[in-house]
Amino acid sequence: GRTVKLAVVAGDGIGTEVVEQGLAVLEAAVAGSDVTFGTTELDLGARRWHATGETLTDEDLATIRRHDAILLGAIGDPGVPSGVLERGLLLRLRFELDHYVNLRPGRLYPGVRSPLAEPGEIDFVVVREGTEGPYVGNGGAIRVGTPHEVANEVSVNTAFGVERVVRDAFARAQARPRKHLTLVHKHNVLVHAGHLWRRTVERVNADFPDVTTDYLHVDAATIFMTTNPSRFDVIVTDNLFGDIITDQAAAICGGIGLAASGNINPDRTSPSMFEPVHGSAPDIAGQGKADPTATVLSVSMLLAHLGLDDAAGRVERAVAADLAERGARVRSTAEVGADLAARVRG
Ligand code: IPM
Ligand code: MN
Repeated sequence: GRTVKLAVVAGDGIGTEVVEQGLAVLEAAVAGSDVTFGTTELDLGARRWHATGETLTDEDLATIRRHDAILLGAIGDPGVPSGVLERGLLLRLRFELDHYVNLRPGRLYPGVRSPLAEPGEIDFVVVREGTEGPYVGNGGAIRVGTPHEVANEVSVNTAFGVERVVRDAFARAQARPRKHLTLVHKHNVLVHAGHLWRRTVERVNADFPDVTTDYLHVDAATIFMTTNPSRFDVIVTDNLFGDIITDQAAAICGGIGLAASGNINPDRTSPSMFEPVHGSAPDIAGQGKADPTATVLSVSMLLAHLGLDDAAGRVERAVAADLAERGARVRSTAEVGADLAARVRG
């Protein structure tokens, strides 16, 4: 049998609640197979920071690197200054582990109500660059707090970084029935980065001749995301544009309670990390109200990344079946988790 070493960062708020259910479904998915998961729980997030002032130590990172994958719930609480855990923990993990593909499916499952009046079929995936762009922290400010303050955030886009994520997006497009790739950027304003992205897409397209491509400025992309989301198949975009349009994608597909993501290192030089798109939701934490579905769908992505396609498929089909019958029924976090695990067991 195969033992998969899974690092678990449940985190704060509803993170711990949804991860508990995600792990239960994961267990159900591999039960009876020759695969077992050995989990290591890591104490990371707001609780740890309040207690020790630490976000992510080199030792934590070394421990995480010894695992095959990471399941993350959510981190943060209102008592931690903005940016401390985002930069010091979440983004540090994505950067250190070279998660250059931030994969975020936008799929409207049958039975799920979209806020769009006529959503049509929605089934796309956003390949958001995960290690560059304005996220790298290449900025600075002078004369802070004065009327003459200057605050700069510099977007970093390297030929290497853009090419590898564009290649990954093309490969994903090629593997899908519609074989279509949309580059989202803003090259009419961000001319340096925008043209690097556009040239890269044009060049890499030669290696994927059966993939069709088009281009949208990010502002126009938000319009189509509302008026005609069916037009999208695979979207490739930079870190910040990807952050923004994937929240919109989550909204049109039934909300962030259903939005899954994978922070993927396609070269497998370090463990990939799977997490719901939502945050720790302190307002509903501890009440058993959080929907664990986004985490369970992230577990499905995790299983697929590990090559456990059968288990991944069973988890996704369990979610789809549950969503199809869900309606307006209100269940607790644990009830949804138990129902999904039962469906996975079959
Ligand atoms: C996300 C979040 C993060 C991001 C924040 C918390 C740093 O919004 O995962 O989308 O901007 O990437
Ligand atoms: Mn976000």
